[in-house]
Amino acid sequence: MCGIIGISSNKPVSANIVNSLKKLEYRGYDSAGIATLSNGKINEVKSEGRVDNLENNYDIKHLEGNIGIGHVRWATHGIPNSVNAHPHSSHNVSVVHNGIIENSTILKKHLINKGYKFKSQTDTEVIVHLITDYLKTSELVEAITKTLKQLHGSFALGIVFKDMPDLIVGARRGSPLAVGYGPNENYLGSDSYALKSMTNKITYLDDGEFCILKKDQVLFFNDEGKKVNKKILQLSSDESSYDKGDFKHFMAKEIEEQSITIKTGIKEYIDNFNKEINIFNFPWKLEDIKSITLIGCGTAYHSCMMAKYWFEELTSLDVSIDIASEFRYRKNRFKKDTLYIFVSQSGETADTYAALDLCNKNNMKTCSVVNVIESSIARDSNFVLPIHCGPEIGVASTKAFLGQILILYIFALKIGSLRNEVQNKLYQEKIKDLKTLPSLIEKTLLLDNDIQAISSTFNEAKGSMFLGRGYSYPIALEGALKLKELSYIHAEGYPAGEMKHGPLALIEEGMPVVVLAPKDSYYKKTISNMQEVIARGAKVLLITNKTNDDVISENIWETIEVENTNNDLLPFLLTIPLQKLAYYSALKKGYDIDKPRNLAKSVTVE
Ligand code: G6P
Repeated sequence: MCGIIGISSNKPVSANIVNSLKKLEYRGYDSAGIATLSNGKINEVKSEGRVDNLENNYDIKHLEGNIGIGHVRWATHGIPNSVNAHPHSSHNVSVVHNGIIENSTILKKHLINKGYKFKSQTDTEVIVHLITDYLKTSELVEAITKTLKQLHGSFALGIVFKDMPDLIVGARRGSPLAVGYGPNENYLGSDSYALKSMTNKITYLDDGEFCILKKDQVLFFNDEGKKVNKKILQLSSDESSYDKGDFKHFMAKEIEEQSITIKTGIKEYIDNFNKEINIFNFPWKLEDIKSITLIGCGTAYHSCMMAKYWFEELTSLDVSIDIASEFRYRKNRFKKDTLYIFVSQSGETADTYAALDLCNKNNMKTCSVVNVIESSIARDSNFVLPIHCGPEIGVASTKAFLGQILILYIFALKIGSLRNEVQNKLYQEKIKDLKTLPSLIEKTLLLDNDIQAISSTFNEAKGSMFLGRGYSYPIALEGALKLKELSYIHAEGYPAGEMKHGPLALIEEGMPVVVLAPKDSYYKKTISNMQEVIARGAKVLLITNKTNDDVISENIWETIEVENTNNDLLPFLLTIPLQKLAYYSALKKGYDIDKPRNLAKSVTVE
């Protein structure tokens, strides 16, 4: 979480830093700040709230300096206010920091005993004083090496020094950090997204490394302070995806883009001519894989849940799923014949990365399903399945979810076919059906007016429930997550059959309940569960698929019908009305849809 930018140039940098911070806001947006160096001074400006507040700050317009650092914050230590906003500075050193310093309390005591005074409640300030202290007796590289050795936890840092007005130090352990190269200037950024508008030439720091960045030179060092050589990567440029176009919000655009997401995914993985799924360079023999474990966080975890149903349906492999923050601390029984699949839009989520790292350290087979192919998770897994959905900016994940489940479905189908567990005729039929998915999504996206009207009822309610069985259960969880993160309405997702074991007690007169009941093998069972909630006064929104069979139930408040397709693919279509429900409900409430309160797009702290 949090975003870092640094620029060393031959011209003033403050405007460019503020623009880059706007791009980084998806990583955190409770406060922002900037520090530049000019005339032997550190100039610091900080504001609570969004980067717009920083931009409107009187002092920013007068900020001089050809070198500077900036930060957007997602609070971990200390409330979000302008004092706790970064940068944090001493008389000589100014620091921006992503991550958490786990031993900050001990270090703070030690520094207070030495006479250092702390202004904020953050863990970051210990870094400022540690460096200031080491610089009294050591030159720069040694002072940085010694400081980094004192810090426990994960971090990315940007540091400037009043007495060294031509350089920025960047350091990485755990949290991502990249260097970008431009004409007569160089950049530091917590991800390539912030740097892409300025350059497509990038070097990623590896864990434990730091750099000294000047406008015309960048030097890299390992954790012992020894120089290292690094490669410069050329990034693809897709700037247009960072624009909202005619849409009010990125989320609205990203929901509407889903037919393209699916079309692109199909194009990337399906060979139309040979009617075959192409997954090249798979590094293991299939007979060496006996089980699969899927790991992710948030929406990506729901993708893992969805994939478990498909892998179990299409193969006889043992499949388990895990939330990354649980997996990383459990006593895992690592097995050589398990394939560990990590699902992540950003590829930078701290818990998912830590789970991957643990598997790598135990020499397990690791594969990742990611959107950002330059990310840490993609770079450190043995095998990568990109989802190719383009940048997703809205904090609530939408097109990346459909992208992830598409690739996981394709992967499950391919493995089922290679293991002869999906016979060729069925395999061909399923590929044929897949190719119709983009147009079915397009039609389902037209279900707009009905959902807009329905969303008011959810806004008036104290809480809501989302129920589904089988393939619809992970989608119910995802629907509930979308509603709570965007409109701050209490929403619970449940397996429909589990209601009578407790949650039914919550149902009261008029409570909106979404029931996902496509006409699959679970249909009749789910409809019975739906009756149970209707009988207790719930207002049921039934989401099903269009078929010739009428819905066999009465007293349903509203029904939405998505297009019809085979059972495997219905989850894609059922997701869309739920995304729209959350979107319209937040829109009516006037909430910040692309940046919901307390959340961030890329969670790089655990
Ligand atoms: C955050 C985002 C969610 C996302 C989750 C996992 O919580 O707000 O939208 O699902 O992180 O992110 P990842 O990038 O690993 O998919």
